[in-house]
Amino acid sequence: MPIGWRAAMTTALYGDQGFFVTGAGPTAHFRTSAHMPLLGAALLRLLDRLDAALGRPDPLQLVDVGAGRGELLGTLARLAPPALAARLRLTAVELAPRPDGLPEWVDWRPEPPERIVGLLLATEWLDNVPLDVAEPGPGAWRRVLVDPADGTESPGGPLDPAEAAWLDRWWPLPADQCPPDRVEIGLPRDLAWAEAVGSLHRGLALAVDYGHLRKARPRHGTLTGFRAGRQVGPVPDGSRDLTAHVAIDSVAAAGTAVAGQPYTLVEQHTALRALGVDGRRPALALASTDPAGYLRALAGASTAAELTDPAGLGGHWWLLQPVGVEPDPAGWFSAEPVAPAPGRGGR
Ligand SMILES: C[S@@+](CC[C@H](N)C(=O)[O-])C[C@H]1O[C@@H](n2cnc3c(N)ncnc32)[C@H](O)[C@@H]1O
Repeated sequence: MPIGWRAAMTTALYGDQGFFVTGAGPTAHFRTSAHMPLLGAALLRLLDRLDAALGRPDPLQLVDVGAGRGELLGTLARLAPPALAARLRLTAVELAPRPDGLPEWVDWRPEPPERIVGLLLATEWLDNVPLDVAEPGPGAWRRVLVDPADGTESPGGPLDPAEAAWLDRWWPLPADQCPPDRVEIGLPRDLAWAEAVGSLHRGLALAVDYGHLRKARPRHGTLTGFRAGRQVGPVPDGSRDLTAHVAIDSVAAAGTAVAGQPYTLVEQHTALRALGVDGRRPALALASTDPAGYLRALAGASTAAELTDPAGLGGHWWLLQPVGVEPDPAGWFSAEPVAPAPGRGGR
């Protein structure tokens, strides 16, 4: 029976037999930045700056929302310098069961803890928050329904007022007044992000995801599927990832409404370069003096190039949402660690 996309995605991804809560996990089907240790190293640099701005609290929390199988947390646990590791509390927030082999001091839970002091991360989580799809109907948007068995779509009824208001504000008609074929109603993502930001007492929420801005929304919709490394049709039958690009400016505004502080939005290539990730190849001379070091540096440069490629992962958005710390974009990304300024932090 046809149902709305939000309900269909919820069951297909997170139901008893859902794609994300059973099976081998996201890594078996697609590669994200979080699977690359270089990202963990860069995030530790960001964490050090945040830690300084917070006055080096004990404990310092790092909460990964939508942690997959804990790949990024495993990297952070491995790379954290001993002095930091002694204060660091790592928490995965995940609907999937705890995987084997994760260090036992990594906490695993379905909801974020309360009053977090530290960093709340969400890499490629928001694109998997279920949402509804609408298409132009006679005089107004109407919901698109889908048959979960085979993905066949059919027209549904009118939208709720809150959904229509979201579209008016965040997905207005383009300048030529020609409506897009379909739109994705990002309201549930805004609410999910606002709730996540609300769990921070002091610190920084960082969402990393692919998305678009109001000035350039897609005309044909972005909802799609991924399975076994390939892009496939978005059939909500539990056999594949279902993902849609994130209206990141609307998510940011929802987070700021909770945080009460401005946000920073930059592309991943900018953020990572500022955090010292460099995709340049090592000098060839190193190959003769230190062949093993040269090969390591070459592998690192190639991963860095992949993470910072503006046409690929480097084009993902980094939404930085400070809570109770000075919103200082230049500081978060400066080459030198941010020193705690007098009066900084503290709510
Ligand atoms: C695309 S995966 C991203 C995994 C990892 N962060 C990465 O970047 O590779 C999205 C993950 O978010 C999890 N997820 C989705 N909604 C969630 C929620 N409300 N609470 C906790 N986890 C959630 C899914 O189970 C899935 O593992």
